Amino acid sequence: MQTVHKTPAVTATARKTRDLDADLLVIPVFDDDNLSDEPDLDRASGGEYAGARQRREFSGKPFEQLFTPLAGEGWKTRRALWIGAGSRADLTTERLRRIATIGGLFARQRRLGSIAIAWRSVEGAVLANYEGMSYKTAEQPVAWVERVEVRAGDAVDQAALDRGRVLGECTNMARELSNEPGNVLTPREFAARATALAKAAGLGVEVLDEKQIAELKMGLLLGVARGSEQPPRMIVLRHEPNNAAKDVVLGLVGKGITFDTGGISIKPSDNMDKMKDDMSGGAAVICAMAAMARLNAPVRCIGVVPATENMPGGRAMKPGDILTSAEGKTVEVINTDAEGRLILGDAMWYARTLGVTHLVDVATLTGACVVALGKTTSGLFGRPVSWVEQVRRASERAGDRSWPMPVFDDYKDLLKSEIADFTNTGGRAGGAISAALFIKEFAGNLPWVHMDIAGTAWADETKPYQPKGATGVGVRTLAELALDVDSWATLK
Ligand code: BES
Ligand code: MN
Ligand code: ZN
Repeated sequence: MQTVHKTPAVTATARKTRDLDADLLVIPVFDDDNLSDEPDLDRASGGEYAGARQRREFSGKPFEQLFTPLAGEGWKTRRALWIGAGSRADLTTERLRRIATIGGLFARQRRLGSIAIAWRSVEGAVLANYEGMSYKTAEQPVAWVERVEVRAGDAVDQAALDRGRVLGECTNMARELSNEPGNVLTPREFAARATALAKAAGLGVEVLDEKQIAELKMGLLLGVARGSEQPPRMIVLRHEPNNAAKDVVLGLVGKGITFDTGGISIKPSDNMDKMKDDMSGGAAVICAMAAMARLNAPVRCIGVVPATENMPGGRAMKPGDILTSAEGKTVEVINTDAEGRLILGDAMWYARTLGVTHLVDVATLTGACVVALGKTTSGLFGRPVSWVEQVRRASERAGDRSWPMPVFDDYKDLLKSEIADFTNTGGRAGGAISAALFIKEFAGNLPWVHMDIAGTAWADETKPYQPKGATGVGVRTLAELALDVDSWATLK
């Protein structure tokens, strides 16, 4: 297999634009930008920039692109990509991140190995160094951006650049895991990769095998795993920094279905191949924790990722079966394709027994969430509202869009069972909400947020600022949340 991502060297500089030495200069410009602060730039383009604006060939609206040569006394960089940043008033860090990604992808297409950005955002340039297709034997070697220089005015903030580089790299690691086919990334392989990533980052790691899972009586995880030849795993990661905030332990739980056939309630063949990404929540937890360790996030954190296939083997669980969770609650399985909430139920309970104080789970959980919010916004469910809002704000800073959905008790009727504590499906109406309510049953009394990434984990189309395939959604949100612990440590 080829490498699928590479992290460029990233440096900050306060040098004058003409002294930057790169293969491509990326210049973000506003819609009303006459370059009054740097008139040299237009002169270096031979007046191409001003000319294009005059002809209305380029107006500076978001993500519009203009490619010009650069020349002039002492100028080192020979090519410029001007990228529209829209109006100054609407500028967000997400827009800057996307601009940097566009610059990186543009450079890679032309096999330009180094870029200089006349601005501050750096994650994007790393995010551009991601290539989905890794199993083609006859493909040309991919071109990477090897070096990124960021011209950040007077205040050169190397720490901010390092943070962007780590967050970009960890997002690419999660994309790599989610893109792996199900026959490669089995639960055991997933656990092995998580172990390697965790050790490299300096996290504690422990993997429970099928025997230990059975000793803990995790009947929900075992119920889903029964249909597969591949044994399940429970991956447990720990981030225990010396500078940790007192009395808080962030608990992260990620769905790790390495392939979801639906089980006996089997899915239609169309698009079933996409279900190799059904471990994206687990990948987000693992890679966010790698980022926390590398950035020394000041909070203790425990990650729990239940990993299994959902297959229709001869011993598979059947509709109507009753499963008993490790916590003791009983579940009537109505649909074996609602497997994510089952494995999460046992994992949430396990995280609680390990002493976490605040819970967030991340899962490609329901098609209903995709219907409700589309493919660019993740659903947020949970309580109290203040904890949900913390996670939402973290996701906004991270550029992972998300939006709150209700978890009113009224919806609980949807999970009523005649013979068990509850069923595992609530029907089509409010399907994302009844799924969240199922998970809530395993959150105890802790502050808890559930993030449904069924729509956002996979991009069907290439955008200028995002390659298609696994997106790595959730990684930066969870890392941001941990870095920002001071603002929620006292929240109960
Ligand atoms: N992994 C799927 C959810 C999913 C669907 C993710 C589409 C990405 C795209 C999940 O396990 C599932 O099958 N959910 C069912 C639940 C239903 C049976 C209650 C669904 O959404 O159809
Ligand atoms: Mn399913
Ligand atoms: Zn699933």
